[in-house]
Amino acid sequence: MRIGVDYYPEQCDESCWAEDIALMRAAEISVVRMAEFAWSRLEPAEGSYEFSWLDRILDKLHAVGIQAVLGTPTATPPAWLHARFPEIFPADKRQYRLGFGTREQRCLNNPDMRAHGRRIVEALARHYAKHPAVIGWQTDNELAANLCYCPICADKFRTWLKDKYGFLEAVNAAWGTAFWSQEYSDWSHIPLPWEAKCGDHHNPSLQLEFRRFQSQSTVEFQQEQIDIIRKHAPNHFITHNLMGTHSSMDYYELARNLDFVSWDNYPINPWSEDPFGSPLAADVMRGIKQRNVWVMEQQNGITGWNTLGRRPTGEWLRCAAWQTVAHGADTVVFFRWRTAAHGTEQYWHGVLNHDGKPRRRFREVAAFGWEMRVLSDPLDGTEVRSDVAILNAYDQHYAFEIQPQAEGLSVWRQVGLHYTALKKCGLNVDVIPPNAELGRYRLLIAPSWYILSEGDAARLTEYVRQGGTLILNARTGVKDCVNACRTQPLPTLLGEMAGIEVDDYDPLGKAECTVRISDGREYTVAAWADALTLNGASAIAHYTRGVFAGEPAITCHEFGLGCVYYFGTFGEAGLYDALLGRILDEASIGPRMNLPEGVDANWREKDGARFLILCNFNPEERTVAVPGALLPLLGEAPHEGSVVLPAYGVGVYEAVGVEEVRKGTGPGASDSDAHAEGLTAASARAHS
Ligand code: GLA
Ligand code: ZN
Repeated sequence: MRIGVDYYPEQCDESCWAEDIALMRAAEISVVRMAEFAWSRLEPAEGSYEFSWLDRILDKLHAVGIQAVLGTPTATPPAWLHARFPEIFPADKRQYRLGFGTREQRCLNNPDMRAHGRRIVEALARHYAKHPAVIGWQTDNELAANLCYCPICADKFRTWLKDKYGFLEAVNAAWGTAFWSQEYSDWSHIPLPWEAKCGDHHNPSLQLEFRRFQSQSTVEFQQEQIDIIRKHAPNHFITHNLMGTHSSMDYYELARNLDFVSWDNYPINPWSEDPFGSPLAADVMRGIKQRNVWVMEQQNGITGWNTLGRRPTGEWLRCAAWQTVAHGADTVVFFRWRTAAHGTEQYWHGVLNHDGKPRRRFREVAAFGWEMRVLSDPLDGTEVRSDVAILNAYDQHYAFEIQPQAEGLSVWRQVGLHYTALKKCGLNVDVIPPNAELGRYRLLIAPSWYILSEGDAARLTEYVRQGGTLILNARTGVKDCVNACRTQPLPTLLGEMAGIEVDDYDPLGKAECTVRISDGREYTVAAWADALTLNGASAIAHYTRGVFAGEPAITCHEFGLGCVYYFGTFGEAGLYDALLGRILDEASIGPRMNLPEGVDANWREKDGARFLILCNFNPEERTVAVPGALLPLLGEAPHEGSVVLPAYGVGVYEAVGVEEVRKGTGPGASDSDAHAEGLTAASARAHS
């Protein structure tokens, strides 16, 4: 457990370095990330490298025991490269070429971009493979789908389709191009989803395939860098800084050949304010490789480019940093060290202000660094283990972004509805891909599994057959893997298992309707309403208003050794509290808490020890009833089964004698310990 900072020595005068390093040491900083935007300083002219400044700062850092992660600088190609190869600039949907000036102004498929990217990465990897301060690499910076519509991308897309489909007839058949006379008789006829007469309304199959292609282009671009670094610096780790719930590309593919995931966390910024931190984003990030992560950029103060977000208090910042640890971060790197005096990010505040004097944020970071160091002994080697998981796949995001269907049907929003209810109970939640080992979970939630492959249908069916509890949602099984509508009754391949058929539906959007659950309580629902016919399932909620009044809205069906719930609509928070409470009882999942709003709880464990981390994001104190006996490592001692957390307070507790409810009768319960041991060993390897 340790802390670091993102450091840009090339953006300040070298005379500041000695003081920077002395202050970093005083703040418990033991790792820095550097150089990810420094291409013009590292290669000022084509082929002429200038690494001496980076050598000097690395030597100085090493002399005091600070380690370094080097970023490959390919997010900011220098002006000379663009001047020589203007086709590196990406083209937008109107095929207009974007220009120089900020960053990421490059098409990742452009062969000159690729070649020059490989050269600078190779030069760096060779030069720094043996530098004693360097421990690992970050590829590029916050990679996203390659958003480019240039002729090179068009050619590559067609080749990609040819490799995938083999014959043009197969494309025509799968995409149903008879619709609007779109049948192709030559590969060159296939368009990109660029601006056309009817705007964005291209064939949904073309659009989905193009999203996959854009994602794959980025994965391939990164892979070239991974191969080079592995070859020249085989003892270094390779990671990348992902963006939480970002969904432009397939993060599972992006992370496949990385050693571990890192991520960037800015809950309070000018565009969105999340005063409760980012617990879901943290769980999504841990779920990508199902192991602990680094935070490579953690919010450290006021954020903003031309306009600024609100000033978070120091206590809030500490709370948000601890929350990432609670959810699986082992290293927290703060963005950034000095606040930039120049450039776009002059107002994105770092540990030091523009004046370079250690002030409040410096002291806050130092205090957090000290806590992390002191708690390293108990927390090192711990990981987050869960009985409940939510499925996530990027095809689902693409498909809903292409066809949102009705207001309120975003995948993350639906995930959030279930997630919030689970977190109120203080349960750990994993967010995992459908090909993960499902048998170790007692409860699995599939938010609208809209694109349903035969493989996923078989995996989910097997999970329930073996005794798992599964929650399905409206808009499940609507599409096949090329985004064409399936023609069986909804939810198509999962209908038999769910014991229902969707007889009709209403895309409610903002319009509200109501449902009543079996205990008589009534809840507001919106976004979507399925009218369900029971084919063996029993109804646990009925619509009480609107065209479907009296018809089943939510059902339950026993199947094999397990059970499937189908939520045909999306409701207010109370509906999920009530239904999940009942489902968690039936699956005997615990220990559960009843957390006050704004308090986050997560468990980390290693063999023989469990730790509870509580974070109170409220500006007033909160009392939390806690399960079992807890030994305080940080924060107030529990009194008569309760803990008082001050405003923005954090508590870290070792559980002594928490009832062993996790060992139970769920599917795969018998081998879950063996699996957990495997994970511990793997994460120990990754972090040693
Ligand atoms: C991102 C980037 C950083 C920086 C911050 C603040 O997370 O990775 O380089 O730009 O945002 O804007
Ligand atoms: Zn391109």
